[in-house]
Amino acid sequence: MAGPPDIVHAPRPGAEGLSEPMRSRWSTSVYDDQHTLTRDEIDRLLHAAQWAPSAGNSQPWVFFVCERGSANHERLVARLSRGNSGWVPRASVVFVTAAHVSTGADEDAPAYSDYALYDVGQAAAHLTLQARSMGLHSHQFAGFDHEALAADLDLPATHVLLTGIAIGVRGDAADVDERTADRDRRIRERVGLDEVARAGTWTQAWTEGWS
Ligand SMILES: Cc1cc2nc3c(=O)[nH]c(=O)nc-3n(C[C@H](O)[C@H](O)[C@H](O)COP(=O)(O)O)c2cc1C
Repeated sequence: MAGPPDIVHAPRPGAEGLSEPMRSRWSTSVYDDQHTLTRDEIDRLLHAAQWAPSAGNSQPWVFFVCERGSANHERLVARLSRGNSGWVPRASVVFVTAAHVSTGADEDAPAYSDYALYDVGQAAAHLTLQARSMGLHSHQFAGFDHEALAADLDLPATHVLLTGIAIGVRGDAADVDERTADRDRRIRERVGLDEVARAGTWTQAWTEGWS
């Protein structure tokens, strides 16, 4: 049984030693649907992504800004998966990310980088951490009809849609459906460093020999 939200969302073992804003970041599913962001705040989030590093400074990202109540927001909401349709629409803004993954037909079309997906993920991470440092919460998601939304947004064939990044402030769990409220109380888990870090070759776990 999950405890009250402040206990559930306290940093988990290994996260207590992190610096802010990583320490307190987690993906809430309960947003305040009255909160809005100013143009300046949205620009600051975009600037965090803009100044992320990328292979050869290729900057292979595009962000579709979907403010609640805007035409882009309507486009996105219509394409959400069932699981995401209960919580995503309440966020103040959603950035839908796209990556430049292939060269266009024109001879002088800009080249693309093999690291585009890596770079867009990193830009997204910077954006979410900037959000946290502004007192905001974020929750990334891939559950939407990518093909349909790409067509709705006139995405060129040189790009692919990747994710949405929902941003806002926490709302009241009483205002959302039970499934969404439950999701918000989930204990966050991670696999151990013994599985993800290596001290040498593949079979040598970083934590091998730890007592
Ligand atoms: C690429 C990506 C896709 C995701 N897709 C969804 C999604 O469709 N729906 C959802 O509720 N959460 C989604 N998430 C959120 C993850 O489930 C969440 O980040 C993970 O459980 C870790 O929890 P934390 O962010 O609170 O640390 C996604 C996250 C990423 C990075």
